[in-house]
Amino acid sequence: MSSGASFYITTPIFYPSDVPHIGHGYTEVAADVLARWHRQAGDDTWLLTGTDEHGQKMLRTASANDMTPREWADKLVESSWLPLLDTLDIANDDFIRTTQQRHETSAQAFLTKLHDTGFIYTGDYEGFYCVGCEEYKQPSELVEGTGPFEGQRVCAIHSKPVELLHERNYFFRMSDFQQRLLALYEERPDFVQPESARNEVVSFVTQGLADLSISRSTFDWGIEVPWDPEHVVYVWFDALLNYITAIGYGTDDERFARRWPGVQLVGKDILRFHAVIWPAMLMAAGLAVPKHVFAHGWLLVGGEKMSKSKLTGIAPEQITDVFGSDAFRYYFLRAITFGQDGSFSWEDLSARYQAELANGFGNLASRVVAMVTRYFDGALPEPAEYEAADSAIQETVAAAVRDADAAMERFAIHEALAAVWTVVEELNGYITAQEPWVLAKDPERRARLGTVLYTAAEGLRALAVLLSPVLTRATPKLWTALGAEAGLGPLADQPLRDAGTWGQLRPGSTVSPLEALFPRIEQEATQTVGAGA
Ligand code: MSP
Repeated sequence: MSSGASFYITTPIFYPSDVPHIGHGYTEVAADVLARWHRQAGDDTWLLTGTDEHGQKMLRTASANDMTPREWADKLVESSWLPLLDTLDIANDDFIRTTQQRHETSAQAFLTKLHDTGFIYTGDYEGFYCVGCEEYKQPSELVEGTGPFEGQRVCAIHSKPVELLHERNYFFRMSDFQQRLLALYEERPDFVQPESARNEVVSFVTQGLADLSISRSTFDWGIEVPWDPEHVVYVWFDALLNYITAIGYGTDDERFARRWPGVQLVGKDILRFHAVIWPAMLMAAGLAVPKHVFAHGWLLVGGEKMSKSKLTGIAPEQITDVFGSDAFRYYFLRAITFGQDGSFSWEDLSARYQAELANGFGNLASRVVAMVTRYFDGALPEPAEYEAADSAIQETVAAAVRDADAAMERFAIHEALAAVWTVVEELNGYITAQEPWVLAKDPERRARLGTVLYTAAEGLRALAVLLSPVLTRATPKLWTALGAEAGLGPLADQPLRDAGTWGQLRPGSTVSPLEALFPRIEQEATQTVGAGA
């Protein structure tokens, strides 16, 4: 299934200084759903994620824990970051760590190229550095500290004091790219998405760009600057390069050409690095800029960005242990407009689980399968003549496929899910209106009963395909219960964009019992976790 268009998508690479929380899980799940959607559609898909292991934040956390930064990174990657991918059922194709040789070698090649072509020079710098952000701050980006930091200027994001640094180091001529960047945003209005993110970036770049300090010499936890081993590469410059070093930049031209350019999915707090610095770096190296940079919003807890440093972090397993990974994946992508902030609450999660997943979708599936078993001995009936109500379902399914695919193309994941859900809602209404249990009592209406149940089963067949990128656990169970595998092959092989083609299930297929896809959750379980958060 690799004949289609190339779709290469990345998540930010995470600092393994700490354990993941649901904000990180949200990014992973969004990227994974987009990737699975394209993969299921036959596009030549590649999903990259990984960890950002250099820099001062890592160095300090490790030494506070009496470990070397490498030991600390190894420990956290093994015990927390790789397991996160299992917890959330992420089907990534690769996992890059910036301490890997493949990354270091290609990153150095990139730097050498920029140095050789005159985009890097030596200079002096004095400025306020925030280790939390791993970034120099303008005085206008600082605020008055409170509590223990009263009287000091602190980082507006981390509420912690910044450090005044004075260094002689290497600079990237980013200021050269102001006009080219503005032209890029103008010519390709969908380069930065959503619109609000694009506006922010355009107004930032319009104000002018300073050159960027890209090396440090006061500590050595980083990639050596190839022509000056006294310096290590600035952590963001190093980290951004992962998107190309992982796909063979400088080492495997064919692989690189097959994947690049890709889509960078990021949180809005790291938008400027990705929509300003990153394309400028690529332009300097003569490489294509990303297809899109999409900035999603924050998960808020109590109205504030959820974060470990502010102690509001919720571990992803707190949710998946109770509700399962499907519910995690569905909930965050359905309840939050992708690109905007969203407040997390246990009540909302619980309510949507019950109403939409358990009652809406899960019950529908169990009821249809149970009726085929009861009324037709488990053999899928043949449809007779279709009536208006049946055709309406066929049209709903076809429209849902088109609308959902178009929405995914625009990164409107929440809209895609809403489009798919019209099928769940219509089918539930259809069954209520057609009353198959009444038809079943009248032998003369047996053909009609067959048509109704075939129509419902076909709707479920389409739902299994359309929801497979999101509900990775439930949909294979449904596929098996529908007996679809024998006639159609594995769920993973069903071309997503053809899901609306009617009449794919073979009459006579053997339908088998279906366990509850979304079991009832004991009230106490949600209350216990809710209270803990
Ligand atoms: N290492 C850098 C990224 C380098 S990419 C070349 C970094 N790491 S991070 O671990 O601090 O954050 C990674 C991602 O998690 C960011 O996209 C950030 O927006 C996201 N989130 C952190 N807290 C979040 C929420 N509360 N809600 C949603 N996303 C959040 O930055």
